[in-house]
Amino acid sequence: QQVKPFDYIIFGATGDLTMRKLLPAFYYRLSAGQVPHNARIIGTARSPLERSVYQDRARDALKRFVQPHDFHEDLVEQFLNMIHYVSLDGSKAESNWENLRSLLNESPQEQIRVFYFATAPNLYGAISENLHKEGLVTEESRVVLEKPIGIDLASADQINNEVGRFFKENNVFRIDHYLGKETVQDVIALRFANPALEAVWSAKYIQSVQITAAETVGVEGRAAYYDHSGALRDMVQNHLLQVLCLVAMEQPASLEADAVRDAKVKVLQSLRPMDETRLKNDTVRGQYTAGQSNGIAVPGYLQELGESSNTETYVALRAEIDNPRWNGVPFYIRTAKRLKQKVSEIVIRFKAPETSLFPQQPRSSLLVIRIQPDEGLSWSLETKNPLDDNFALQKATLDVNFSKAFDVRYPDAYERLLLDAVRGYPVLFIRRDEVEAAWRWVAPIMEAWANNEVPMTEYKAGSWGPKQAEEMLAARGDVWHEDME
Ligand code: BG6
Repeated sequence: QQVKPFDYIIFGATGDLTMRKLLPAFYYRLSAGQVPHNARIIGTARSPLERSVYQDRARDALKRFVQPHDFHEDLVEQFLNMIHYVSLDGSKAESNWENLRSLLNESPQEQIRVFYFATAPNLYGAISENLHKEGLVTEESRVVLEKPIGIDLASADQINNEVGRFFKENNVFRIDHYLGKETVQDVIALRFANPALEAVWSAKYIQSVQITAAETVGVEGRAAYYDHSGALRDMVQNHLLQVLCLVAMEQPASLEADAVRDAKVKVLQSLRPMDETRLKNDTVRGQYTAGQSNGIAVPGYLQELGESSNTETYVALRAEIDNPRWNGVPFYIRTAKRLKQKVSEIVIRFKAPETSLFPQQPRSSLLVIRIQPDEGLSWSLETKNPLDDNFALQKATLDVNFSKAFDVRYPDAYERLLLDAVRGYPVLFIRRDEVEAAWRWVAPIMEAWANNEVPMTEYKAGSWGPKQAEEMLAARGDVWHEDME
């Protein structure tokens, strides 16, 4: 469905995120007929560029990040015509605001405005203030905040307060692109539209939950950002805790934003705080050393960085949720750069029955929700081996690849989220209290790691991570998904 006409003003428009994700996402939505012809995308950044030069860069971005069979010259032309550029330092009051204002004044007053902040988060407050002073925040304006919102609770509070002075909370769209992924949203459908699943969705039947976001890439050109962040802040505080919330939450009262966010925030508040013993036993951090990535030799993190560093590129945690549904069920969370395979998934390991009925012990049944790539589901079940007359068991796996099954392209998460901000539909964005609760839970981990109370481990690029992460699970009779039978 087509959205209303909009002006999308991107701060940080020459950056990697804009080129890699935002512009291709707009292009795909234009091609799907959802973007009206009089919508505009206004890039702003400090570089003094002509509009045509920026349009050329946008074309290059589409060439690189849009599938070749989706790149259509006439559509690309139409898209580039929507793109404008204003050279502006959004954090400076004395910058080139006049140019932005006159461009925006070309649209009717009621045109929807979305200000998208893809800059360093410590500038969000200053940009908001300048937009306000310049009178550019209209009734129909919203602001999208890219992650990370701060580096800890205090800085997140500060950013939220500063932005909150000029934008009402219901006009603030904090992005977590994992929520825009179709298969992450599927968790809601699977659980609450299938009573058979929801009936076994608890400690009574579930042995453990694993949430993995494994990447094969290293830190690429982002070392300056990444080395100040690390995997815990970059992926766990936001994406993986959000996924955990959807897996663990109670059924929301409705699919309205606040109802879903209320259900999620309760999970964050019920996460058992990490104490000293658990910090040592239930958290693992690591850095990759030289190895292979997809068959190519790659350097270690410290070699890439060219200096020593206390920043983790690997995290594995055992989280626990203190409520009757989940008491005693470990939620293993892990994410890292330079692992063996790119895969984001949720693995529900059901308890195996205790029975002497069969010649062998039945094994756990696994439900795997594949977030990416190959969005889909697989469910492994014990069946009877047809070649054995004594009821020997063998695993059979039901597997659905959604894209093939439904014969559709699975869109990038940003496609959905960019237009949800235009629609003013915030359910897939994060409310302020969620950001804060998530920072609160990771705070002791960040502190213990910063004080080296938990040793830094190493893992070879191209492996599945440090052996300490395997040991963390083995201590409770568990194994990571790739080692499960
Ligand atoms: C971003 C992180 O939020 O998510 C990156 O900053 C990471 O470091 C990326 O690579 C992973 O996203 P996806 O969608 O590829 O899993």
